[in-house]
Parts: sequence; structure tokens; C-alpha cells
Amino acid sequence: MKRRFATRIGLVGLLTVVLAGGVARGQATVVEKDVPYVPTPENVIEEMLRLARPTSSDVVYDLGCGDGRIVIAAAKRYGARGLGVDIDPLRVREARENAEKAGVSGLVSFREEDLFQTDLRRATVVTLYLLPSVNLRLRPKLFDELSPGARVVSHNYHMGDWPPERTINIGNHLVYFWTITGREKDRFGSASQKGPSPAPRTGWEIEPES
Ligand SMILES: C[S@@+](CC[C@H](N)C(=O)[O-])C[C@H]1O[C@@H](n2cnc3c(N)ncnc32)[C@H](O)[C@@H]1O
Repeated sequence: MKRRFATRIGLVGLLTVVLAGGVARGQATVVEKDVPYVPTPENVIEEMLRLARPTSSDVVYDLGCGDGRIVIAAAKRYGARGLGVDIDPLRVREARENAEKAGVSGLVSFREEDLFQTDLRRATVVTLYLLPSVNLRLRPKLFDELSPGARVVSHNYHMGDWPPERTINIGNHLVYFWTITGREKDRFGSASQKGPSPAPRTGWEIEPES
């Protein structure tokens, strides 16, 4: 069954079934998103990357990459390789153009894909700006596919009962940081019998760009 976030954020959800791609050719392509597009501000990206400390040996994946700004920043500032995936083809096109403009096309790539289908095994850093419910659905996949030592950074949203190593406040924004460990793999991976915990609220909800 298709996942939706409309019940969580009301009208916002309706806005995320967008017409994309084929509109210019007279055909409407419906993109069903789990999360609306809202870019992470540059100062928050700085903090996310400061926590993750990517190097040129790292591979940074941004799941739901929007215009590609996080992987592009990691490539520009730290020389990290990166992959951004987004379900919206317009965003993917934008991200490729932005990488080109930033001169990092050789380090980063972008893929139109449902993030739940992305193979995460190459990632050493994963960045997220999703929703608590989406983070929780993603959590077993992170533990199944990432290697111990991989870092996960989430803008604004927690991971239920997986306690973050660091939480940073930047104005209205929160940044959570975790490292995957073998011990927690047993607890939170899909082999675990435990279902996801209910999501505590963080105090503010994602709003789409107008
Ligand atoms: C809040 S934005 C974050 C964009 C970017 N990561 C940033 O922080 O600037 C969430 C993005 O996730 C994308 N998205 C939503 N559902 C998705 C899915 N199932 N698979 C891949 N991308 C998805 C949206 O198109 C949107 O660009």
C-alpha cells in the first residue's frame, strides 16, 4: 500500500501530489511523496556536516535530496562523494544542474528513486530531512544495510527509541546525530521482533515551500 503523510500534516499532504515532468508535453505525471519539499537552510547543513565529519573517503547519501544541496555541500567542503535520491524528477534535474554549477558533478550523482528502494550498503553517512513516521519506517533498513560506524544525521526529526548521540539546536531547527553500532543492529534491524515506537512530537512540523 502507498504511504502518505497527509494525515499527519493535513492540507500540506495534498500539496505533495505534484504534477511534474510530463506536464510540458501535455501529460501529467503524478509523484506521490512521503514528505513535501522543504530545503534545509545552509546554516543547518553546516551543523549536519560538522557532526557527520565527512572526508574524501566517505560516501554521503541524502534520502529525499531535494535540490541536492546537502551532498553538494559535502562534496564542495569536504571532498566527499555522494548520492542523492528523490522521488520527484524535477528535484533530481535541479540537483544535477546545481552539482554542475558547483563543479562537483564528478563526485556526486542523483537518482530518481523511492528512498525505500535505495540500496544503502555503500553509504558511510546518511542525511535525512523527512518526518518522524518516515524515519521510523526507514530505521530497520538503515540497520540492515549500513555498516557499523556509518553516521546518520537527521534535520529536525528523531528516530523514536533509538537515542541520538548528539542533538543540536539551531534556532527553530534540531539536528540529531547517530552512529550505527553492531549492538543496536540486533535491536533495531528488521530481524528484531520489536515494532517501531510511537513518535514523540518535536514541536514543529514541516511546511512546504509556497
Ligand atoms: C523536506 S525535503 C528535504 C530535501 C533535502 N534533503 C534538504 O534537506 O534540503 C524532502 C524531499 O524528499 C523527497 N521525497 C519524498 N518522499 C520520497 C520518497 N519516497 N523517496 C524519495 N524521495 C522522497 C521530496 O521530493 C523532497 O524533495
